[in-house]
Amino acid sequence: MDFQLSDDQKLIRDTARDFAQNELAPLAGKFDEEQRFPTEIIGRLAELGFLGMFVPEEFGGAGTDNLSYILAVEEISRVCASTGVIVSVNNSLVCHPLLKFGNEEQKRRVLTPLARGQKLGAFSLTEPSSGSDAASLKTVATRKDGGYVLRGQKCFVTNGPNADYVLVFATLDPAKRSKGIACFILEKGMKGFSVGTIEKKMGIRAALSCELVLDDVEVPAANLLGEEGQGFKIAMNTLDGGRNGIAAQALGIAQASLDASVKYAKERHQFGKAISEFQAIQWMLADMKTETDAARLLTYRAAASKETQEYYGLETAEAKLFASHVAVASAIKAVQIHGGAGYMHDHPVERYMRDSKITELYEGTSEIQRLVIANNVLKGN
Ligand code: CAA
Repeated sequence: MDFQLSDDQKLIRDTARDFAQNELAPLAGKFDEEQRFPTEIIGRLAELGFLGMFVPEEFGGAGTDNLSYILAVEEISRVCASTGVIVSVNNSLVCHPLLKFGNEEQKRRVLTPLARGQKLGAFSLTEPSSGSDAASLKTVATRKDGGYVLRGQKCFVTNGPNADYVLVFATLDPAKRSKGIACFILEKGMKGFSVGTIEKKMGIRAALSCELVLDDVEVPAANLLGEEGQGFKIAMNTLDGGRNGIAAQALGIAQASLDASVKYAKERHQFGKAISEFQAIQWMLADMKTETDAARLLTYRAAASKETQEYYGLETAEAKLFASHVAVASAIKAVQIHGGAGYMHDHPVERYMRDSKITELYEGTSEIQRLVIANNVLKGN
């Protein structure tokens, strides 16, 4: 087994680290506090190629391997988990399905500007009455004049308020459950397509999430991604990769929690010595380090499996399940190590704690990851 990163992977990790530490760090707390989309850094993300990382250069991407993408999400999330998920959604949940299931025209017209970072994308599966049970979605697509008309309501759409393109899942026949679903490319400005309530959230407050309203939106046939009835499989395959991105986001939060805790434990003195000299603190640091390293191994293994395996949903579910648990546990320990100071806005650990929780919820809750893992185990995978 080779646990070494290649020179190219190290270069991309270091570029992401420099960008995050030097350009993003001074702004991350402000974005969170103001609950504001980080418009001013989107251009830099695009320039650095972070919005279309594994997309081939011919379609506007950076043409990297999948692990390089995961390294970038980790480093960005280590500083700003909101920016981490903006990057992850555009790459994993939008560029990936367009690249895998799109036709040549869709790749030129839609994927290319998304991968270049000239446009931003979102992915819209969830509805008020269908979350974990995604196949029960109620947004309806009706065939009309060679195209489709979409009607329904979506919710919790990350990047939704800022997206130029949204992949929307709708059913042509609810009785067919997963087999009736299709995926459509919706464009900002389409008649009847609007942003509803923008959610007020506990964490990742700079990555805006919203409802989307589809009021008889006419969608041309050219905007059907894949085939009618293939939508659920497109969604599941897309989430298989997306969950790796969220594992990387969680890993970034866990590492940031450890970094802040080590620094504070050396600086803070009580009972005449640095609190890092107390075993109670050392044991927390030891657990945080060990669990973060274990999460990293699972997350990188999942990233590598996408390069060589047709199905990588087991590896990404394991990575997301474990890394999200570690992010939450590490962020809570970080606040504990900081004591009362950690509960205050002045220290970023309270942001890490709020940001960490979503990693156990979106792109499939931890219970859904266990379901995916158990199904695989029982099939002998
Ligand atoms: N890849 C390809 N196909 C897959 C697949 C995968 N990973 N998983 C399942 N399928 C196929 C199955 O093979 C089956 O096809 P056949 O009938 O032809 O065999 C079909 O899909 C239906 O599969 P299931 O019977 O397993 O489907 P289910 O209804 O039992 O649901 C589930 C399975 C795992 C629970 C799924 O519904 C699921 O993942 N739920 C969670 C949804 C989720 O993650 N939502 C997050 C939305 S995005 C978000 O969080 C917001 C954001 O903006 C970031």
